[in-house]
Amino acid sequence: MLKSWAGAKTCFVKEQSLYSFAETVLSGPRGADLRIKQLDEFYSAESPQLWKLIIGEDLHYHYGVFTGCDNSLQDGMRHAVRSLYDDIPNGGHILDAGCGWGGPAKMLEAELACTVQGVTLSSAQFNYCRSLGMDVMLGDLESMDLSGHRYDAVLMMESLDHIQHKGELLTVLRSLAPKIILRVNCVASLLATTSSQAGRWHMYMETPEMIQRRLERAGWNLIRWVDRRTETLLTFSLWHARLESVFPDADPPGQLGLLKQLCEYALSDLDRWADANPLMEYVAV
Ligand SMILES: C[S@@+](CC[C@H](N)C(=O)[O-])C[C@H]1O[C@@H](n2cnc3c(N)ncnc32)[C@H](O)[C@@H]1O
Repeated sequence: MLKSWAGAKTCFVKEQSLYSFAETVLSGPRGADLRIKQLDEFYSAESPQLWKLIIGEDLHYHYGVFTGCDNSLQDGMRHAVRSLYDDIPNGGHILDAGCGWGGPAKMLEAELACTVQGVTLSSAQFNYCRSLGMDVMLGDLESMDLSGHRYDAVLMMESLDHIQHKGELLTVLRSLAPKIILRVNCVASLLATTSSQAGRWHMYMETPEMIQRRLERAGWNLIRWVDRRTETLLTFSLWHARLESVFPDADPPGQLGLLKQLCEYALSDLDRWADANPLMEYVAV
């Protein structure tokens, strides 16, 4: 008993020291530059054409939601966005903060007549969105000046996970729009094994309760929150099948290699993975 507690304690200390190392290195002006450069490279190294072979032609880079639709990747991705439509103002001006290659934004424009302004840190995503005719800004949400902007709602579709100072950003967003809609990859516990892998994804994972408190402290009133994770799990086998077929004999490059590892880890015990990794949806006004 004593031995296992000692083991757990060592693990805890190691995990904490990894986090404090990351905090020390990545806070401060030079750390911020490094973080931005790394995140840009992380999302820009592989071409959109290659990403399309894995995540689909519309380049949605979030989990699919597989309820009330058939089981194709494209339908799951579209349903993941449509399942938020009741909360998105029709015809509204929307900030898509962390817009990726514009998958969700293009749907809001086409199906809800919204005007969407996207922000991404990735130069490749920025160029791709521009080629689609999207209104998009290239920059770091954590440092860019958004004070002259006003929106009907802010959407953050699996991008808050990457934000280091979440409370500060949520406070800035509070002054820009009367509503916020978030999907956030969380950890059930900060000591979960997956939290130590989050660094390789440039993610700062928190628990659902921590995100909830941050929203409330930033002045948002939560009207709805739910864990969507169990509805998303089919995404892993669909992504994994495509990764296997595109790279049958070699490890996929860059982030795609990490994605394959994540799929394999999750697929080894989907229930355990789902319990440890809630995908939280929050709507706040
Ligand atoms: C997992 S992708 C999600 C993309 C998109 N929301 C989607 O669902 O298809 C995360 C996105 O957040 C963006 N992002 C992360 N941190 C950012 C930051 N500090 N400033 C701007 N964009 C950021 C990345 O560039 C990337 O586009």
